[in-house]
Amino acid sequence: MCLTIPAQVIKLENNHAVIRGSNGIKEVKGPLIPNLKVGDWILYISNLALEKISKNDAQEIIELLENSQSVDIAKLSDQFKNIIEASRSRDLTRDEIIYLLNTQGQEKEALFSEANIIRKTYLKDFICIHGIIEFSNFCKNDCFYCGLRKENRALPRYRMSIDEIVDTVEKAVYKKGYKLLILQSGEDYFYTTEILCEIIKKIKNKCRVFIFISIGERGYECYKKIKEAGASGVLFRFETSNPELFEKLHPQGKNFKKRFEHLKFMRELDYFIATGSLIGLPGQTIKDLADDILTMKKWANMISMGPFLPCDITPLGGFPSGDVEVNLKMSAILRLLMKNIRIPVVTALETLAGEEGRKRALQAGANSLMVNLTPAEYRPLYKIYPDKFYQEESIWEKYGLFQYKESYKMLEERMRKELEDK
Ligand code: 5AD
Repeated sequence: MCLTIPAQVIKLENNHAVIRGSNGIKEVKGPLIPNLKVGDWILYISNLALEKISKNDAQEIIELLENSQSVDIAKLSDQFKNIIEASRSRDLTRDEIIYLLNTQGQEKEALFSEANIIRKTYLKDFICIHGIIEFSNFCKNDCFYCGLRKENRALPRYRMSIDEIVDTVEKAVYKKGYKLLILQSGEDYFYTTEILCEIIKKIKNKCRVFIFISIGERGYECYKKIKEAGASGVLFRFETSNPELFEKLHPQGKNFKKRFEHLKFMRELDYFIATGSLIGLPGQTIKDLADDILTMKKWANMISMGPFLPCDITPLGGFPSGDVEVNLKMSAILRLLMKNIRIPVVTALETLAGEEGRKRALQAGANSLMVNLTPAEYRPLYKIYPDKFYQEESIWEKYGLFQYKESYKMLEERMRKELEDK
């Protein structure tokens, strides 16, 4: 599901409408919309007007995406300006990334603004909306940061049945228009490879939807079969690029080498890989974050990163949360390094910084949203961290353009190209 930024009709000629949007003035064909008038607000794709929307909804969408902040160029150092200039024609070095991660004040705003311009130039005014369904909170692991860790025996556990999962997907696709859904769980071997394949096949038989799976380290054979069953992508974070920190946070069963072996074979299997790290882990340094950025550059077809949030019932419960501004700087730098990549605003950032945080992330290089579609009765139990952000996404879902028929194909082509570009 995707949304474009609204534009206002400023002139009508025969079958054409001249519209003014955030990317300037352009002409679109308007035959799909009856009774279009000058002053109306519309949504459009390339040069086709698709739908009339109310002025209020238009303002709300624009509000989320337009940046009114202006930057005082005189306050930017030569070093900063050189790095930004360089990023337009080459990759950045680790030291340059560290410089950008340390920016404050006007330089930080200028970094966000540069990322926003790149997002607009390369991805136009498209914001894609993806959904996540958390189908089981059982986990065999004991990661120190995560509330689903198996040691956490007080947490009531749930598993959705095959039919419940397929129904939830069907509703998201047919009632709401989602085209890309992530099925996530703890590392739960109750769902054998066969069961996972059955779920995916059932979904693919009923719905034209991209399925990403996020089920942990299940080994080559499992991922191979799931791909054959019809999964397109994986959401699989490397969590941190610092091997010592990784080992400290994962007491047993998981190791750094195995994590990257998974990414390697996932790529060989032609999965669309969403990966990234946790930001603000205890003991993590700015240098580690610069390495995380370079690691994402190497592995990701889509970014998946977010701030660490302390969970009361874990060994890291007493540590502070990750920093929102650092997270935004990470998004912006990734946008400088990878002009076309999908960077979703994740729930953890929204939990820390709310709707305002979402807005700022979308103005700092991020270009998609990850909406929680887990059924209400299970949602509070998927307690990776407490007080997870949740809201009904009325505006976003109402105007998701990918309800149109050609849209799945468009998305398919775009994703194929994003994979090939890597
Ligand atoms: N804070 C933020 N994110 C977390 N995750 C797990 N625990 C936490 C936490 N306390 C993230 C991990 C994992 C993803 C499913 O959730 O990065 O890969």
